[in-house]
Amino acid sequence: MADIDVDAVVARAVHQIELDAASNPLINASFDPHGLRQALLHSPEPTWVFEHAGSISAHLFGALLGEPHDFAAWTGPDGYSYDNVGDLAALVGHASSHWRDRGAGSHYVWCLDRPDRLEDWSHLGYSRFSTRALLELGHEVPTVHHEGYLVRRGGAPDLRAAYDLDEQLDEAQGDRPNLRTAKERDAARTQLRETIEDPENQYFVVESEGRVVAQCITFPAPQRRGSLPHTVFLSEVAVDREYRRRGLARLLVGYALEHARDANFKFCETQWRESNKVGARFWTEYGFHTTYARLVRAL
Ligand SMILES: CC(C)(COP(=O)(O)OP(=O)(O)OC[C@H]1O[C@@H](n2cnc3c(N)ncnc32)[C@H](O)[C@@H]1OP(=O)(O)O)[C@@H](O)C(=O)NCCC(=O)NCCS
Repeated sequence: MADIDVDAVVARAVHQIELDAASNPLINASFDPHGLRQALLHSPEPTWVFEHAGSISAHLFGALLGEPHDFAAWTGPDGYSYDNVGDLAALVGHASSHWRDRGAGSHYVWCLDRPDRLEDWSHLGYSRFSTRALLELGHEVPTVHHEGYLVRRGGAPDLRAAYDLDEQLDEAQGDRPNLRTAKERDAARTQLRETIEDPENQYFVVESEGRVVAQCITFPAPQRRGSLPHTVFLSEVAVDREYRRRGLARLLVGYALEHARDANFKFCETQWRESNKVGARFWTEYGFHTTYARLVRAL
């Protein structure tokens, strides 16, 4: 892409994020245009632009990422802009055959969670895969303490329960942990153990009669386009199926967020899969507001 086009694309990306932030106060408008300029100039992947009467009316960028079984093109909230959806459709058509030729099986795109924007992508064949949501700390539901349950920091001695709860979470998210090979199961367990043992992460559990029955993990949210600073990321929230609907997830999340506030975090971010209706209900009831939807289309 010519330098002059890069500047036009960066200006469009900045404007796009400003529009997102104007529509949703939980989205951060500020980002480093110089960083984006450098990233686009040095990326091995092209940025597709639609030119209309000598000026750019749409752009689209996709990074190719992932494991061999899920190698995909990824477009962030700043990775596209369009003045009309027909221009976007043309770019998606060109880019898709390029991505397919490079071995990608699907295209993921982060789209502002607003009906008109979602509709534009849905006309192009995209559907919602997952949702990103944010809570301003201090706006959560009050924590109610329950007799007989102890909330505490977890650690290595809790790993056996952690593996089981992690598989229950995967099941709820639409994965099939029971179909994993021994190698895949070991890889998933190693990843979880490393996450729990990582000193950057905080691992919390609920215990009942000496048994761990719920867990979650928090860590500083990675700086992503649109994310507000001082955001903690909450993940791995799972309650043993025999202990659900007793308020334990609320108890656990409340405890984890109290710790986050004490550590000067101002916001909490989480994500859930579209197929996980109970998860979606839990987070929205808890006070989380959606920001971006991750959409997907097979290439
Ligand atoms: C989602 C999950 C963590 C909720 O845990 P829980 O301890 O049962 O939740 P709570 O009892 O604290 O419920 C709090 C509120 O969430 C909502 N909720 C929880 N489970 C629900 C269900 N099955 N159906 C509808 N609403 C539900 C309700 O509003 C509930 O309040 P109420 O009981 O006063 O109506 C639990 O179902 C779970 O572990 N699921 C599998 C893993 C998972 O999906 N984790 C979330 C990943 S995104």
